[in-house]
Amino acid sequence: MPGTIVVGLQWGDEGKGKIIDILASQADMVVRSQGGNNAGHTVVNGGEVYKLHLVPSGILYKDKDCLIGAGVVIDPPGLLEEIDGMESRGVSSARLKIDPRAHVVMPWHLLLDALGEEARGAGDIGTTRRGIGPCYMDKYERIGLRIYDLVRPEIFRVKAARTGLIKNNIIAKIYNHPPLDPDEIIEKYIACGQRLASYVADVSVLSYEALKAGKNVLFEGAQACLLDIDMGTYPYVTSSHPIAGGVCTGVGIGPTMINKVVGVVKAYTTRVGKGPFPTELDSETGEFIRRQGGEYGTTTGRPRRTGWFDALIVRHGIRINGLTELVINKLDPLSGLKGIKVCVAYKKPDGSLINDYPAAVEDIFGCTPVYEVLPGFSGDISRCKSYADLPKACRDYVEYIEKLCACPVSMVGVGASRENVLVKP
Ligand code: GDP
Ligand code: IMO
Ligand code: MG
Repeated sequence: MPGTIVVGLQWGDEGKGKIIDILASQADMVVRSQGGNNAGHTVVNGGEVYKLHLVPSGILYKDKDCLIGAGVVIDPPGLLEEIDGMESRGVSSARLKIDPRAHVVMPWHLLLDALGEEARGAGDIGTTRRGIGPCYMDKYERIGLRIYDLVRPEIFRVKAARTGLIKNNIIAKIYNHPPLDPDEIIEKYIACGQRLASYVADVSVLSYEALKAGKNVLFEGAQACLLDIDMGTYPYVTSSHPIAGGVCTGVGIGPTMINKVVGVVKAYTTRVGKGPFPTELDSETGEFIRRQGGEYGTTTGRPRRTGWFDALIVRHGIRINGLTELVINKLDPLSGLKGIKVCVAYKKPDGSLINDYPAAVEDIFGCTPVYEVLPGFSGDISRCKSYADLPKACRDYVEYIEKLCACPVSMVGVGASRENVLVKP
């Protein structure tokens, strides 16, 4: 704090929501900067489980401002459903704000996401089918619709009719699919806009003023580094910048306002969707970790692919984010394994070693991981109340990772609740 960014370092679902919820107790404001409702962030509080997709994970506190920045893409019915769901559980949305520059996910984006995936066949990306890629495509093609337009029916009707025509041409002529009814869509979305209008505020101005006044602002990353459109495993990535740099462009603040960058990892690795995964465990051990860790997607319910901790991935994340500290979540699912492997390098087919995460997926596909094996630990570590309570082998594992990745570990997670996060001295 005051300006703290939290990012995922692997392929998402590292437990960012839980860490944001914990750090938010010290914050005045929690701000999302990119992605959309492809994100699924879980917060467990008092035995209640909250799954958040667009609403920042600070919403459970009454006194925190929760902001959605310009770089986020917003599905209006999805956001309203989330707001209504929270309100029905007694969680107020009164302090939620949405930047007028944020782009709107339209029904044609959802359809084009699905049609694109089907057309790619076996080469599909495994997207969440939330229309994220097609929405960002329109943004960069400069035909997108923004929250600013959505809340102004006269402007929205004109712009949405224009873009809808282009999209219907693609849907019908390229994909040979029945076109959508733009009039019906426009009226439905205008109604959503009327409900969302009261939340609209300039998130760049609010964040800047809060930071200048010395307040603590927490920037909540969605997705993760290896899903970054440039730094990730392209093309098996999302369409935004889930890295620390993306916060500045996605909120509209400068890098000098950031003091800390916290990277969240799991004590192993998971991935949903397609793409290379060198340490993947297609075995009984992989299934054991999936079962122990409850590794099923928060947004889509898909089983997550599981594998060993990969130091190349985490060092890549440390570098591209200028990380100041590391949080290791989900140590508890590893309990009961005899030995725990950590990937320290990749071996190319010619026998040479790679130490830095490769730029091209083709270079990753041919590699085999080089492992170090650490002693396992057993018992229910979720009962541990402090870092010192953890079994020695567990602490050794954390400290091995800390040394290997050359980044201080500040917290470790041994369960899904707030109280399951242990501060590392
Ligand atoms: P996010 O997208 O990074 O916020 O993570 P998700 O919420 O999609 O996935 C993380 C899952 O692991 C959720 O079900 C969390 O409740 C759960 N979780 C988070 N931290 C821990 C932990 O330390 N141990 C265990 N067992 N579960 C955790
Ligand atoms: P959180 O914030 C895990 C993955 C999808 C797919 C790829 C592209 O919960 O960590 P998209 O729908 O974005 O075009 O899909 O990105 N993906 C995620 N995987 N956690 C997420 O978010 C993800 N958001 C997108 O599975 O492989
Ligand atoms: Mg998630």
